[in-house]
Amino acid sequence: MTSQPREVEIFALGHQGDGETADGHYIPYTVPGDRVRATFDGIRGHLLEVVSPGPARVAAPCKHFGTCGGCAVQHLSEDFYRHWKVGQIRDALTQRNVTGYEMKPIVSVAPHSRRRATLSAKLTRDGMVVGFQERGSNFIVDIHECQVIDRRLEALIPKLREALAGELPRSAQCEIGLTATDTGIDMTLTLPGVEMDAPHRSRLAKLVAQLHVARLVVNGELVAQTSPPSLRWGGVHVAIPAGAFLQAVPAAEQAMQMLAVQGAANARKVADLFAGCGTFTFPLAKASAVTAFEGDADAADALKEAARHALAMKPIVVERRDLFRRPLLSTELEAFDSIVLNPPRAGAKAQCEQLAHAKVKRAVMVSCSPATFARDARTLIDGGFKLCEVTPIDQFLWATHVELVARFER
Ligand SMILES: C[S@@+](CC[C@H](N)C(=O)[O-])C[C@H]1O[C@@H](n2cnc3c(N)ncnc32)[C@H](O)[C@@H]1O
Repeated sequence: MTSQPREVEIFALGHQGDGETADGHYIPYTVPGDRVRATFDGIRGHLLEVVSPGPARVAAPCKHFGTCGGCAVQHLSEDFYRHWKVGQIRDALTQRNVTGYEMKPIVSVAPHSRRRATLSAKLTRDGMVVGFQERGSNFIVDIHECQVIDRRLEALIPKLREALAGELPRSAQCEIGLTATDTGIDMTLTLPGVEMDAPHRSRLAKLVAQLHVARLVVNGELVAQTSPPSLRWGGVHVAIPAGAFLQAVPAAEQAMQMLAVQGAANARKVADLFAGCGTFTFPLAKASAVTAFEGDADAADALKEAARHALAMKPIVVERRDLFRRPLLSTELEAFDSIVLNPPRAGAKAQCEQLAHAKVKRAVMVSCSPATFARDARTLIDGGFKLCEVTPIDQFLWATHVELVARFER
């Protein structure tokens, strides 16, 4: 039951980006020092009015902020925002009793730099709606600007609204995946309940020319392509499979690549674990022989194919392997001077247990989850590694998420 409105003060910002009151209630879109009027459902507050703003409050740059679920913390001053993101990593490490490392300055990304977006679309009685979902609901906020995504993706939104109107089944919610690559926009559509027959497929194929995209994949099926979407890493062109993992922001990716290469400097042989399509493999292979391990078949094949054309590089070997079920054993790891790991959010528990017992001297972990990173860092430290430095990477601007690159040495 929703409470009567009352006035409260915010004293901290929680990990989900919600302001916290002294008695343990959380109110989205507030900052420490704010006095606000809010209603409450249990511990969840709903902001009605900012009575007096806290010192860290700024005006959000986007008009959709507060309804669109894409951004949670556009209302924080830059200093407070950075401090809060770094604090999430520090807190996760403290919880695992990991200390004595150097925290490097956070790497920030600019507005309009994210090259990937997943939009939702629906044909409603009032027309086509294209945008991001509201926080905690399926309702789609019709987006007319986005401060986060690459301008090429932003410019496509009104065209999508027009072009998709005749193609969507009424009331079904459809997903649009967009990735800006070096050769154009890669677009995937998920149309629930749609059996594609030949006329439908040929109508959809026309969207490629109409929207000027490089490739269109619908419900997992290639519908049309003008040029294969590709990216370049370490000077090597890699053809990107539809739906493959990619770092979301080129500037964040470059910072991660640079730190991975620095961390593996002078290594003769490097293992690149959870290699994806080769984001780190090719920059690393400029100086070291690299064996890349990746679980996803399409990503591993793309990496293998690109490696065949990677001239003037040290040897690259690619192995498809499930590193959760079959981590590299400590004896296998000892064939390498340096290990680069970039696991998914679940972390690399089984792999770090093996690494902790291997005689390898150096490791670089690129992580998108401070919590699982801290767990795995503890394992490595208990096995004799020292966590030397951590570089926070703010790849997801104005979201609650923070990533990092960490360097370990024995
Ligand atoms: C965070 S991504 C990193 C990819 C790449 N390093 C990059 O920067 O683009 C994690 C990668 O781990 C792969 N992966 C997920 N689970 C895996 C598993 N059990 N074994 C091996 N690879 C896995 C995913 O397919 C994905 O490519």
